[in-house]
Amino acid sequence: MTTTLIQGGTVVTSAGRFAADVLTVDGRIGEIATSIARPADHIVDARGQYVIPGGVDPHAHVKITFGGVPSADDFTSATIAAAFGGTTTIIDFAFQEHGQSLSSTLDDWHAALAASPPVTDVGVHLMISDLTDPAWIDELRAAPATGVSSFKLFMAYRGSFMVGDPAMWDTMRVAAETGALVMVHAENGDAIDALIREAVAADTLTPPFHASTRPRSTEAEAVNRALMFAELTGARTFIVHVSCADAVAPIVGAKARGMEVWGETCPQYLLFDESIYEQPLDQALRGIFSPPARSVADQDALWTALAGVGLDVISTDHSAFNLALRHERYESGGGFTAVPNGGPGLEERLALMFDVGVRGGRISLEQWVDLCCTTPARLFGLGGRKGVVAVGADADLVVWDPERERTLGVETAKSKVDYSMHEGRVVTGAPSTVIVDGVPLIADGELLDQPKRGFLRRAASVEATASV
Ligand code: URP
Ligand code: ZN
Ligand code: ZN
Repeated sequence: MTTTLIQGGTVVTSAGRFAADVLTVDGRIGEIATSIARPADHIVDARGQYVIPGGVDPHAHVKITFGGVPSADDFTSATIAAAFGGTTTIIDFAFQEHGQSLSSTLDDWHAALAASPPVTDVGVHLMISDLTDPAWIDELRAAPATGVSSFKLFMAYRGSFMVGDPAMWDTMRVAAETGALVMVHAENGDAIDALIREAVAADTLTPPFHASTRPRSTEAEAVNRALMFAELTGARTFIVHVSCADAVAPIVGAKARGMEVWGETCPQYLLFDESIYEQPLDQALRGIFSPPARSVADQDALWTALAGVGLDVISTDHSAFNLALRHERYESGGGFTAVPNGGPGLEERLALMFDVGVRGGRISLEQWVDLCCTTPARLFGLGGRKGVVAVGADADLVVWDPERERTLGVETAKSKVDYSMHEGRVVTGAPSTVIVDGVPLIADGELLDQPKRGFLRRAASVEATASV
C-alpha cells in the first residue's frame, strides 16, 4: 500500500473551500478529514496553501502539423510541461488524413504515444475529416467504447483539417447515438479563404491581416451552423476556443433552449487583444492563432460568460510551433498566411487564470477550479474520477501556493518550444507539489522519478458522468 498525506491545506472544489487533510491510498483519495494523524509514505505540508484537483486540459495538441510545420513537443515534454503547471490530465487529438481509416488513425496516435512515454496519462479525441467509406462510420460508432468518447470537427482549413457538411452530419449523428461529445472549431473556412485570397492579391500580408481576414462574423456564422447541426442531429456539442461576444451569444441562446452545448475559451483570448498584431514582428507573430485575438470589449464578454453563462471550460489549445520557424515562414513570401496557427500554453494556464482571473476579481477561486478542472473532466468522460477532490477519485492533486510570484518565460518553461506567449509576465500563484496517481511527481520545483504512463481511457458517454 502506498500512501500520501497532505496536511494543513485548504481544499478547494468547484462547490466551496474548507480546511482539511487529504490522505491518498494506492492512487485514490482515501480520506478527507479535519485532521488525519497517521504515518504515510509521503507527507506534504500544505499550510497556507490550497489543495486542488489536478488541472484537466481537454484541448492540447501534442502532435500536430500545420502547413507542413510540426509542433516541437512530444508526449514526454508536453506532459512534463503540463504537470509543472499543475495540469495532470491532457487530451490530445488523433488527426484523420483524408482517405485514412479511423483504426489506422488511432494506431498512428498510439504509436506516437509509445515513442515518447508521458509522465501523466493522456487521452485522445478523434478528429474526423472524411467519412466517405461506411466502414469508417462503423469505426466511429465503436470508438467511445474503447475510451475515445469525443470527436473533433474543423469548419476551417479547407484542404487539410476541414470537414464537409456530410461528414459533419454523420459524426454528429453517431455522437447522438453513442453519447459522445463533438468538439467544433467554428470558423467559416471558405469565407476566410476568400478573404485571404484577396489579401494575397493586394499584397497585404502583415500580421494585422491575419485578424482582418478572420472577422467575428466568420466565427459567429460557424457557431450558429454547428449549433443548427447539433439541434437537428441531437449531438452534444462543445465549441472550442470561443473568442468574441458574437460567438458567445448563440451558445447562450442554445443553452436557453435546453440544448446540451458547452463553450470553451483559452487564456490567449483573455490576455491578448487585437493590438498584438500592431506590435513588433517578434511579438505580433505570437498572436497568429485562430480565431485571432479580438477587442477589449470581447475580452470582457468572455470573462462575463465564464463567470456566468455561456463558457464552461478554459483550455489551452496548446500548439507548440517554434517562433524561429514562424519567422522563417513569415519571411518566406507568404507573410501571415504561411505562419502555422496556434501557440503554446500548457504550463501557464492555471497560473494565468489564477493571477488574472481569481486575483484580478474576474472569477472566484471555486470557478477557477470548476473551469480548469471539474467541468472539463465531467464533459470528457472523466467525471468523479478527475477534476475533483473527493473520496474514491483518482489521487491527482496539486498543492497551490497562492503567494508565490514568478516571471513566465521560455528560460524556465518545460515545453520544447522556443518561446512563451507570455514572456516576461509576472504572475502570483504556482504549484508547490503535484501529485499524480497518489505519488508526488513534482516537489520543490523538481521532477521526481516516477513510472511512465500511457493512454487514458475515458467513459463512453458524457451521460455516464453528467450527474457527478
Ligand atoms: O490556431 C489554432 N487554434 N491552432 C491550433 C489548431 C486549432 O485550430 O485548434
Ligand atoms: Zn481550432
Ligand atoms: Zn486546437
